[in-house]
Amino acid sequence: EKGGHDHFMLKEIAEQPKAVADTLLGRIDASGRLTLDEVRIPAEVLREADKIVIVACGTAFHAGLIAKYAIEHWTRIPCEVELASEFRYRDPILGARTLVVAISQSGETMDTLMALRHAREQGAKVLAVCNTNGSTIPRESDAVLYTHAGPEIAVASTKAFLTQLVACYLLALYLGQVRGTKWGDEVRAVVRELARIGEEVERVLETMEPVRTLARSLADKDTILFLGRHVGHPVALEGALKLKELAYMHAEGFAAGELKHGPIALVEEDLPVVVVVPSPKGRSVLHDKIVSNIQEIRARGARTIVIAEEGDETVVPFADHLVRIPATPTLLQPLVATVPLQVFACELATARGNEVDQPRNLAKSVTVE
Ligand code: F6R
Repeated sequence: EKGGHDHFMLKEIAEQPKAVADTLLGRIDASGRLTLDEVRIPAEVLREADKIVIVACGTAFHAGLIAKYAIEHWTRIPCEVELASEFRYRDPILGARTLVVAISQSGETMDTLMALRHAREQGAKVLAVCNTNGSTIPRESDAVLYTHAGPEIAVASTKAFLTQLVACYLLALYLGQVRGTKWGDEVRAVVRELARIGEEVERVLETMEPVRTLARSLADKDTILFLGRHVGHPVALEGALKLKELAYMHAEGFAAGELKHGPIALVEEDLPVVVVVPSPKGRSVLHDKIVSNIQEIRARGARTIVIAEEGDETVVPFADHLVRIPATPTLLQPLVATVPLQVFACELATARGNEVDQPRNLAKSVTVE
């Protein structure tokens, strides 16, 4: 049942190229137009939406944080992302023109469900991004965009996360298409790239042996930090969450720009710091900033683990360990950058003798608060 893998998590990591491809299947036509008719969101809701609010928990929340960059960039609709557990207990400003997007693998997470009920009571329309057919969250939503990851058994979410990203990109592009915003060459290039992103994920998976070796060498560490900028920031948060839940290590993700505002005080001799480096193309300011962040932490003794695009040579002198990922459009980078972090956490957990598929204190579906 684990398909020759030691753990469901490894099987599910390996299934990601297919999960991503399945989630795209039938949703982009030959001319690069998106067809999301099955979602059944009335076109006027999409055209008139003046705000998007994403609610989710845990890993799904990280997918939402990444989605915000894509939604705002491609559609120019303001987008907020909030933890469902916070959203439901405040007094959020919602109305008939607010589109709430509830992201949930299981479709049963109590806080997310309560958040969507709260949103609908205020007159907002709710779209679920969900992996489980017929579960409560899609049943109670106005529309649903299913992720086609297949069943996810391991408690730690991997393939569901990648497909949540794909679904959110599709939604953002579709919104842009319906509203006629930003439908230029850039978006066409993204659609083309999305169509082959499964192959890129496959290529990443083929190069993970050094990441495993590195993970094993860090098994006795107490703390590992993760840094990123732009969409690399939520990727850093996700890398840290995976490490907490699987390896039971102290792990934190930071926006690299925040280093000087506190976290840099944590850096000491031989502290492992994983840095997600944005593409050097197009976004060179962002890239330059992170390269100087790497230099700063390295000057203070950090052991830098740098995740950077193939061909990005500027980072080489500052990387104690270099993990290569394929070049992608900036907004899609999380689809390839997250994969090494999943493998890293899984291998560290194994090296520390932890139960990979069933981490202590956690449940796959959190149906209580
Ligand atoms: C982390 C993880 C959890 C879930 C969270 C939301 O690996 O699995 O953080 O992402 O409990 O669950 P769903 O997506 O089912 O609402």
